[in-house]
Parts: sequence; structure tokens; C-alpha cells
Amino acid sequence: MKESDLDIGRCYLQETRYSREDLGLPRRSFPRENPFKDYPAAARRVKLKPQADKPPANLWDCLARRRSQRSYRDRPLTMAELNSLVWAAQGVTQASRYYLLRTAPSAGALYPVETYLAVHRVEGLEAGIWHLKVQNFELELLSPGDTRRPLVEAGLGQTFLGTAAVVFIWTGILNRAMWKYRERAIRYIFLDAGHICQNLMLAATALGLGCCPVGAFFDEEVERLLGVDGQEEVALYLASVGAM
Ligand SMILES: Cc1cc2nc3c(=O)[nH]c(=O)nc-3n(C[C@H](O)[C@H](O)[C@H](O)COP(=O)(O)O)c2cc1C
Repeated sequence: MKESDLDIGRCYLQETRYSREDLGLPRRSFPRENPFKDYPAAARRVKLKPQADKPPANLWDCLARRRSQRSYRDRPLTMAELNSLVWAAQGVTQASRYYLLRTAPSAGALYPVETYLAVHRVEGLEAGIWHLKVQNFELELLSPGDTRRPLVEAGLGQTFLGTAAVVFIWTGILNRAMWKYRERAIRYIFLDAGHICQNLMLAATALGLGCCPVGAFFDEEVERLLGVDGQEEVALYLASVGAM
């Protein structure tokens, strides 16, 4: 098959393969992106506690019990539960030179994935869209209000996105990884998001909560909800969490 016969997905994979002849060596022609995003004008900030106690759990048991759960009880999540979930997804576990190493690995420690929360029912936390400021382990309120309906609509009508207590939304800031890995970076950004989501699912399992990963959504509608541009920062992946 000629390359010109390939569809866009296969073409991308072919064009971004490493081989001994062509490592696609990075040409670092555009400036490195700031590795952190924050919202200085956030309406409110809530500090989380990275060191807070987490209930003991058995990893092997969590791996065996994890299932995608799409029905949730009305009980709100506690702040302690939210704290553990956010830490599992993107907690900083070590500061090393320029890097803040996390619970999930990241290609080149570039951490192109940003975490947002659509909070529906968490005790003591206003409903709305929040952003995780990783370096301070704090949540920044971007827009208060009930986002259940627009989120279900953005998620192709998947109603559990509205009945969940919270929906994690991950975006990728392309230049943070493309700066180093050029086109191949796109592969890595999605792999990074997968690691983060699996951490979240295992933590939800450990806490006896239900969690479901979601890749089916209208990208532009999710991006509009977060207020990101959909060009340099794009929606990658969602995960709903709620009590069972
Ligand atoms: C990348 C990805 C995208 C997914 N998107 C959705 C989705 O949009 N809606 C949904 O209900 N489940 C979604 N799922 C969950 C899968 O349906 C589920 O993982 C699969 O049925 C296997 O079941 P398990 O997770 O319970 O082992 C997704 C899973 C992955 C890994």
C-alpha cells in the first residue's frame, strides 16, 4: 500500500515512527512552553491536602475489581474523597531539578495534560468548572454553576455525565510536548492521559466509588465549557466519578 492510499490515522502513525534511519530528531525551533498553567483571576481557590490520609487498599484487589461504572447514588463526594482522587491523578510526589514528578508518568517529564473538574456534588465545594493548579495542589474556580446539562450534551447524551458527582476533564497543551518530540508528541500526550485516568480509576475503586472513562464527546463543546481554545489546548479525555 502506498502512503498516499492511507487514511489520516494510519498516515500519522507511519509518519511518526522512529526507525534507525530516521529518528525524526527534534528541531527545537519554537520556544518551550511554560510547564504550568494557572488562572490568577480565578473566582475562588481551594487548597487540597496532598498528605491527607487515604484509606488503605490492596492494589491487586483494586486491579481485579475495577469496572467502568455508569450508575451512581445521590450521595455527594466528601472533600477527603476528592482530595484522594485528585492526588491519585496528578499529585506531585517528588521535586527534581526543573520537574515536579507526579503519581503518573509523562514522556520527558513535560506534563502536557491539564486537569479540570466539573463539580456537581462535592461537600463544601461550589458546583462549577475548576482547574487543578498542580504546583500548589489547589483548585481554581473558573466558572461557577450547574454544568450537568451542557456536559451531558457535550458527551453525546451520555446521561451518567450528569448523574456523576464530579467529572474529570483532561486537556493537552500541544506545544508543551511538541517542542521536544515534534509530531510524535501527539502519541505521547494521549498515552499520558491514559496513565492519569487509570490512576484515577484505581483510586476510585480503592475508595469504593464508581468511575467511567469517556472518550466520546463533542470536542468543541467540552473545550467551550472549559474556556480553552481547541487549537493549542485540546480536550483529550473525561472520567465520571460518583458514589455507588
Ligand atoms: C479510551 C476509552 C474511551 C471510552 N469511552 C467511553 C465512553 O465514551 N462511554 C462509556 O460509557 N464508556 C467508555 N469507555 C469505557 C469502556 O466502554 C470500558 O472500558 C469497556 O467496556 C471495558 O469495561 P471495563 O472498563 O469495565 O473493564 C471508554 C474506555 C476507554 C479506555
